[in-house]
Amino acid sequence: MSELQKSGASAQRAAIVGTGSYAPARVMTNADFEKIVDTTDEWITTRTGIKERHFAAEDEATSDMAAEAARRALQAAGAAADEVEMIVVATITPDMPFPNTACLVQEKIGARKAFCFDIEAACSGFVYAAEIARRFVEGGALRTALVIGAEKMSSMIDWKDRSTCVLFGDGAGAAVIQPSRDGRGIRGAVLHSDGSLGELLMVPGGGSRAPASHESVDKGLHFLKMQGREVFKYAVNNMTAAALEVLEKTGLKKDQIACVIPHQANHRIIKAVADRVGIPLERFFINVDRYGNTSAASVIIALDEAVRSGRVRPGDLVMFLVFGGGFTWGAMVLEWSG
Ligand code: UT7
Repeated sequence: MSELQKSGASAQRAAIVGTGSYAPARVMTNADFEKIVDTTDEWITTRTGIKERHFAAEDEATSDMAAEAARRALQAAGAAADEVEMIVVATITPDMPFPNTACLVQEKIGARKAFCFDIEAACSGFVYAAEIARRFVEGGALRTALVIGAEKMSSMIDWKDRSTCVLFGDGAGAAVIQPSRDGRGIRGAVLHSDGSLGELLMVPGGGSRAPASHESVDKGLHFLKMQGREVFKYAVNNMTAAALEVLEKTGLKKDQIACVIPHQANHRIIKAVADRVGIPLERFFINVDRYGNTSAASVIIALDEAVRSGRVRPGDLVMFLVFGGGFTWGAMVLEWSG
């Protein structure tokens, strides 16, 4: 019988027992963008809520940011790197096609016992990865998983396209997932995808469909392309639906949710979701103004900030709400154990 079962705590409920995040030092403000594309601080602020974002140094890759966030999460969890049995990195900006970024993180932090893989679900990636880790831990297959969302979005930004370049930022967040020590932890999740809408948000080149070539680079196929207005509508509708579905699945009422951590793409999307779900905007944690859209890193950076600032406290019910390319979307509810 495991210690957990002996203690009488809920059988193998998995919990996030520590978080960490990392934002690269270089900050670019909206005023800085005014100098490189035809835009204004006023447009960016009113249309997105973004004021500034962090960008990695040229020699700083996704795995470097991921490893730093991982070290901070392990420290917060009081766990050693050699206790980690699984590393999952959610990213659309891996250091390279392979080896996977999780293997690179393993080497950097010295987590020799871990098996390592990446998952790609765009901005929804962290919640997808956390749900995978949760299932391994709940099933008793392992005790310590490290789940990371990390992105160097600056590596796929078209700096001449004002409709996308102002939106994104770089960074990483990490969570240590272990069996719950106090019965609190992850209550449930819903995950969805719709591959018919993939063309609305994509990087068309650099894969097996259009491998890197002089022609693909000349055409800018390695840059992120987005039909923003369309994506906006689906983001609002699908995040709203996921919020209501996860409440139903977990048997919780919206009044019980102390803090919603939505994907940080656009302040207007977050407000629209708050209005439709019927949870006051004050209960949504928002940091898009300081980070922009960091894709798979967004919600775990936000949770880390919310926890460290005392905005999320032990016993609070927290809801992640995510949406991204694919399309992918989902929600997860957890009771923070601290
Ligand atoms: O993370 C994955 C999910 N991604 C998202 O959730 C992003 C979803 N989409 C959005 O957040 C918004 O659609 C955007 C912020 C991308 C754009 O806001 P919008 O209110 O939908 O603007 P729009 O694309 O309809 O463009 C309105 C106008 C256009 O000019 P015209 O055609 O009306 O003359 C654009 O050319 O704003 C223009 N515009 C800009 N103007 C100044 C587009 N980008 C800029 C810019 N500065 N940076």
